[in-house]
Amino acid sequence: MHAPDNAPTREILVLLAHPALEQSRVNRTLMNAARRAGERVEVRDLYALYPDYLIDIEAEQRRVAAASLVVWQHPIHWYGPPPLMKLWIDEVLSFGWAYGPGGHALKGKDVWLVGSTGGPQASYRPDSYNRYFFDAFLPPYEQTAVLCGMRFLPPLMVHAAHRVSESELRMQAEVYAQRLVSYPDWPEIADLECPACEVPAGERPTAEPVEAT
Ligand SMILES: Cc1cc2nc3c(=O)[nH]c(=O)nc-3n(C[C@H](O)[C@H](O)[C@H](O)COP(=O)(O)O)c2cc1C
Repeated sequence: MHAPDNAPTREILVLLAHPALEQSRVNRTLMNAARRAGERVEVRDLYALYPDYLIDIEAEQRRVAAASLVVWQHPIHWYGPPPLMKLWIDEVLSFGWAYGPGGHALKGKDVWLVGSTGGPQASYRPDSYNRYFFDAFLPPYEQTAVLCGMRFLPPLMVHAAHRVSESELRMQAEVYAQRLVSYPDWPEIADLECPACEVPAGERPTAEPVEAT
């Protein structure tokens, strides 16, 4: 059972998911930059909030519904999000609320993926060990956002997380903070449309209770 969540909601919701934040270099630096980005921003450290993985779905839905920009901030683990970030998506973006018939709670919001990879950018190429350009790993994120009627903003990724120089890391953190401060006035998103993706009513059968035998 979670304590009631009465904290005020914010316009920008940063969902940080790092399973070992005490060992983090990049995401901790980025998190601190987001925390300095002003009153409009709330940073939620999901692993600190939910060490038992029992996400308070109602509290999360209330916060995301009130936000205009939702940031998914995490290190890339096996070409995708760490488990608690994925569980947040599974449970909070529910059918009939976030997508599907009657599911319009998130329509018109923006999603921004921010994070880090261990592999350098040069490893994300057909002729190197990650075999694909990094963009090839983004469609599941993008389509998740779009199915919920949200725009997927161009991601901010710090590559080579363990080797990036302090000055480059500081610069990226500054870019992150500036973007949060100036949102939604980003020149590159002015003309960015969100394609319509309505799941037709009747696409998903109503669940019938299973009879005990
Ligand atoms: C379980 C696990 C899976 C990982 N998978 C990837 C991966 O698929 N691609 C990659 O480039 N780096 C991968 N890494 C490296 C992390 O992305 C890297 O440690 C992280 O970005 C560093 O950020 P931090 O300084 O905030 O901890 C993985 C690390 C772990 C622990």
